[in-house]
Amino acid sequence: MNKDNRVINAAILGFGTVGSGVYKISCDMKEELLHRTGAYLNIKKVLVRDKTKKREGLDMSLVTDSWSDICNDPEIEIVIELMGGISPAKEYVLEALNAGKQVVTANKDLLAEYGAEVREAANLKHCDMQFEAAVAGAIPIIRPLKQSMAGNRITEIIGIVNGTTNFILTKMSETGMSYDQALAEATRLGFAEADPTADVEGLDAGRKMAIMSSIAFNSRVLFSDVYTEGITKISADDIRYAREFGYVIKLLGLAKITDDGIECKVHPMLIPEEHPLASVRNANNAVFVHGDAMDDAMFMGKGAGQMPTASAVMGDVVDVMRDIVYDSCGRVGSSCYKEERVKDITESSTKFFMRIKAEDRPGVLANIASVLGNNGVSIAQVVQKSRSEGIADLVIITDEVVEKHFDDALKVFKGLSVVKEVSGVIRVY
Ligand code: NAP
Ligand code: HSE
Repeated sequence: MNKDNRVINAAILGFGTVGSGVYKISCDMKEELLHRTGAYLNIKKVLVRDKTKKREGLDMSLVTDSWSDICNDPEIEIVIELMGGISPAKEYVLEALNAGKQVVTANKDLLAEYGAEVREAANLKHCDMQFEAAVAGAIPIIRPLKQSMAGNRITEIIGIVNGTTNFILTKMSETGMSYDQALAEATRLGFAEADPTADVEGLDAGRKMAIMSSIAFNSRVLFSDVYTEGITKISADDIRYAREFGYVIKLLGLAKITDDGIECKVHPMLIPEEHPLASVRNANNAVFVHGDAMDDAMFMGKGAGQMPTASAVMGDVVDVMRDIVYDSCGRVGSSCYKEERVKDITESSTKFFMRIKAEDRPGVLANIASVLGNNGVSIAQVVQKSRSEGIADLVIITDEVVEKHFDDALKVFKGLSVVKEVSGVIRVY
């Protein structure tokens, strides 16, 4: 394929971890890109905040700190947004689309909140707007959901979509490190950001689940619709007890379509040791998808990092270049043609694991069981782990229960003098 050695000019916004990786691939693969798309890719400009800073491997004549140099240049056909954050990324992406430029972005924060607005701008101008790298780094999941699996009704997605938290939980589980030690190790190795809040509180995973759910269920799910709970309260004891019951603890994103709406949530969960997601270790990500025709499929790989993320960005760039060469931009538009309700977490059902410290004397277990029973919570397993100074440490796993009923039982425990502490409340797959 060679359409007269056409040159396609692009600009990269941001020369940080991912931007520098994308630049590297675009330089290293010039000839391959020509053969694969029918055009040369020329990075004409690179936008940064501080243009005096030395940037390793970058031709400094390309560097600008002026967005208008890019937006007003009619030769630049593709804008590759890798700055991150909402503003000014949102304004730049909208202005690029309004100017008829194709956009590739890795910005999950932007898409999980303003995906509809960005998509609308792309549709109006028949532009491509691609974002494979926004979810699960190198793993192809956006294009499979939009295209390869388009002959299915997707009913469920379960994902380990945050590498930092998966790394921390793996270290806690396999080496006995505390949460703080594992977080320090993740920071030392460069997985966790200087401010790890978005990772450890489940916000990063929540954004990725919102984006995937919107595509999978053809109905917009915003980040604010997603219930998020992080891993900061998981203790070494929780992990040890879970293992004794045959489970590992993972931070999971769960999304499914039900008769009365979409469920979309992120929280720690006990999953059976033999479940395929249990073997996804360290900073790896995995996404498990169920479709009515295809049954189950699992996608696994590196969810972050310079070159893995740049790989996903460049896949989008190649797709856009082909669309430009064949004059077919805007071919794949919005997935959201329905309006489904997103359910509140209290409406969904799950099993629970919990640890209760209670007075160690006759009748206390019966008292606890009756509180659970009165609120419609049935006990699947109960084990007394230890007893000292008149206090017994109980571990309980419930049957599936509507979350609201379980919350009601927890409220009763708060006012019960024989119950000293309820901790380690974690959902069970
Ligand atoms: P990063 O290392 O912090 O780099 C950001 C770059 O953007 C820097 O070069 C910075 O310029 C530039 N920038 C920021 N604000 C700017 C502004 N207002 N004007 C001009 N330039 C600006 O970020 P990153 O890790 O590469 O992440 C980029 C995007 O990829 C984010 O949306 C992120 O969520 C997404 N992503 C990252 C990963 C990953 O593993 N890192 C994985 C998946 C997705 P200066 O250098 O001058 O400060
Ligand atoms: N901070 C994210 C993670 C990578 O740990 O998975 C960017 O999406």
